[in-house]
Amino acid sequence: MKPRDIVRFLDQHVVGQDDAKRTLAVAIYSHYRRLTLPEMLAPNKANVLLIGPTGTGKTLLCTTLARALDLPQVMADATALAQSRYVGEELDALMVRLIERAGGDLEKAGRGIVFIDEIDKLAAEPERAGAGRAVQHALLKIMEGSLIRLADGRTVDTRQMLFICGGAFVGIERIRQERRAYGFIGTSPDDDPRIIERLNTRIKPTDLFEYGLIPEFTGRLPIVAQLHGLDRTALIRIMQEPQDSLYRQFQALFALDGAALSIAPPVFAQLADLALEFKVGARSLRGLFEELLGPVLYALPDEAPGTHFHFDSLFAAPKKTNAGQAG
Ligand SMILES: Nc1ncnc2c1ncn2[C@@H]1O[C@H](COP(=O)(O)OP(=O)(O)OP(=O)(O)O)[C@@H](O)[C@H]1O
Ligand SMILES: [Mg+2]
Repeated sequence: MKPRDIVRFLDQHVVGQDDAKRTLAVAIYSHYRRLTLPEMLAPNKANVLLIGPTGTGKTLLCTTLARALDLPQVMADATALAQSRYVGEELDALMVRLIERAGGDLEKAGRGIVFIDEIDKLAAEPERAGAGRAVQHALLKIMEGSLIRLADGRTVDTRQMLFICGGAFVGIERIRQERRAYGFIGTSPDDDPRIIERLNTRIKPTDLFEYGLIPEFTGRLPIVAQLHGLDRTALIRIMQEPQDSLYRQFQALFALDGAALSIAPPVFAQLADLALEFKVGARSLRGLFEELLGPVLYALPDEAPGTHFHFDSLFAAPKKTNAGQAG
């Protein structure tokens, strides 16, 4: 798969976030390429960090990507790792799982992908900083690419393993702005203001360090893909466009009861406005849908088959029609 193909696949499920998609796609593509090069020429692997506000698609990007790739892969949650008293054993188990996914083939497992979500939680509150730091140190060992000896005696080579980490890093925007001592400015008419803007809003390893990750750890995540807050248009698209969008999900639910559902465009806009106020990205959309459709879903099994519900407004009951009866 070329980067373009990877992005096209991601587009089917994740709305917007083009920068992050492209960065990820290039990282994955380079990962595949590197595996075909002789070891001496192969560039060092470049693990990826996905940063962005809550509910904007970080986890969704990882799970979608996972479906597209034919490489063995595992997912872990840094919060769970930090709560475990035996981090080393947890990571050991993670590697064992990866080997299982590779059908027991150690070499194949060594080319796999490890997703670690909620990585920002390792930098969390000072009272638990010890645990977070311990996890970072334990992760360093597998991320920097070395031979890891598992408890069962097998050895797995992590030098080619790709790590993709995700985290919301609440508050990092403020750190970035405060630390911005200087910024690039355009000096020639050829300068593209979008490129300058992108350079100036980049999250740097030093920002992550300031946030509370240890420098060795940030150093092993050289590629940072930033996701952005979702605007009204993006939220409206998210409700409708993906193959498994909320609208489609609820339409399928209605169809199970022999009914039909349609929602007029202004309602999506109204829902998006409410979701924007909740400030949790696309995450609040599901709840809003449940609220809108709850009363109808309650009575749905009692309705005559073939009933069509049409919502014109968020503030009005749906119009009911029945094609069967009308005809
Ligand atoms: N860009 C997007 N395109 C389509 N759906 C999205 C997008 N962003 C979020 N969603 C929807 O919102 C839900 C939550 O998104 P996701 O789990 O990816 O958030 P996140 O960025 O990982 O947030 P957190 O930092 O809280 O873990 C997804 O299951 C998906 O339904
Ligand atoms: Mg997430």
